[in-house]
Amino acid sequence: MTEIQSSIRFLSATDLDQLKLGMGDIIVLLEKAFRLKAEGKVQMPPKIFFHRGGAQFYSSMVSASSHLGFAGCKWQSGDPDNPSLGLPYIQGLYVLNEDRTGQMRAIMDSEWITGERTAAASGLVVKHLARKDAATAGILGCGLQGRKHVEAIHAVRPDITDYVCYDLVPRRQAKFIADMTERFPMRFRGAAGPEEVARASDVLITGGPIEKSRKPVIVPEWIREGALVVTIDYDSYVCDEMVAAMDLILTDDSGQIEDARRNEGKFPGVSRIDATLSDLISGHHGARANDKQRILAFNLGIALEDLVTAIEALRRAQISNIGTMLPLRKRVLAAEA
Ligand SMILES: NC(=O)c1ccc[n+]([C@@H]2O[C@H](COP(=O)([O-])OP(=O)(O)OC[C@H]3O[C@@H](n4cnc5c(N)ncnc54)[C@H](O)[C@@H]3O)[C@@H](O)[C@H]2O)c1
Repeated sequence: MTEIQSSIRFLSATDLDQLKLGMGDIIVLLEKAFRLKAEGKVQMPPKIFFHRGGAQFYSSMVSASSHLGFAGCKWQSGDPDNPSLGLPYIQGLYVLNEDRTGQMRAIMDSEWITGERTAAASGLVVKHLARKDAATAGILGCGLQGRKHVEAIHAVRPDITDYVCYDLVPRRQAKFIADMTERFPMRFRGAAGPEEVARASDVLITGGPIEKSRKPVIVPEWIREGALVVTIDYDSYVCDEMVAAMDLILTDDSGQIEDARRNEGKFPGVSRIDATLSDLISGHHGARANDKQRILAFNLGIALEDLVTAIEALRRAQISNIGTMLPLRKRVLAAEA
C-alpha cells in the first residue's frame, strides 16, 4: 500500500549535527555509491553551474537511483565574499524524494551536506591514491572545506602527521591552525604562500575560489615526486602546464568536466582524463602504479554524493525523530478505485 505523506521532514544544520553521521561513515557511503555508478545504477545529468558575477555562482545538481529508492536535488548559491559578512560561502537546500511515487520526504540544509560529502570524496581519493609513506598534507584555503578535509584525511590516513596550510586572509589561517591543533593530534603549520604548501605536500588539496576567469599559479615544478593533488576548485589553482605534466589524471565525473568546458570555458588545459573515481573504486583502472607517479584528481562534486548522504541522514533522523515536520498537503485524497 502506498503511504501518502501529508508532511515533510525539515533537517537544519543543527539537526544534521545531531545524527552522529561522521566523516568516516560518509566515506564508506561514497565508496559504495561510486561502485553503483560504475554498475550504471544511477541517473545523474551534469550539474547546472553558472557564474552570476566574478566568483559568485548558482548551481543545481540532481540524481536518481531506483536501486537506492530515492532521488534528490540541490540548489545552492556561492559567494566567497560572504564569510566577511558572517555568511557561509555556499548556501542552499536539498530536496529528497522517494523514487517509487516521487513524493518529497525531506528538505535539508545543503551547506552541511556539501561540507561533509566534498571532503569525504577527497578522503576516498586519498585512501586509494596517496603514497603509502605520505607524511605531509597541504591545505590551500582554510575555510569550511579546509577544516572538513583535515577530518577526512585523518579518517583515512591517521599516519599523515604534518599539515601545511595557507589562506589568503592571515587571520583565517591563524585561527585554522589554532582550531585544528586543539582538535587533532597532528602538527599544523602555516605557510607564506601556495608555493611553500605545494612543495611540502605529499597530498595537496586546492580549495581556492572558483572564479569566472581563473588565475592559476601552481606550476609542475612545485609538485613533488609521488604527490597526489586533489582539486575541489575545478582548475582554479593549477596551471595548464601542471595538468599536462601529471602522470595520472582522474575525475569524479568525465561528463561534468566536458560540460564545464563547453558551458563555462573551464578546463582548457585538460586534454585527457585517464580514469574516473568509479573506475578506480570498482577496480577497473586508475590505481597508482608506483611511488613516483604524480597524480591529479579533479573532484568537481557530484549529485550522487549528496543523494547517498541525504538518504542516510533521513534514515537516522526518522529513527531518532530529529527535525521539524512541515505540513505538505491539506488533505489526504482517497486512492481512485
Ligand atoms: N568540488 C566540490 O564539490 C566543492 C564543494 C564545496 C565547495 N567547493 C569549493 O571549495 C572552495 C572552498 O569552499 P568553502 O566552503 O571552504 O569556502 P569558505 O569561504 O569557507 O573558505 C574558503 C577560504 O579560502 C580562502 N581563500 C580565498 N582565496 C584563496 C586563495 N587564492 N588561496 C588560499 N585561500 C584562499 C578564504 O579566505 C577562505 O578562508 C570553493 O572554491 C568552493 O567552490 C567545491
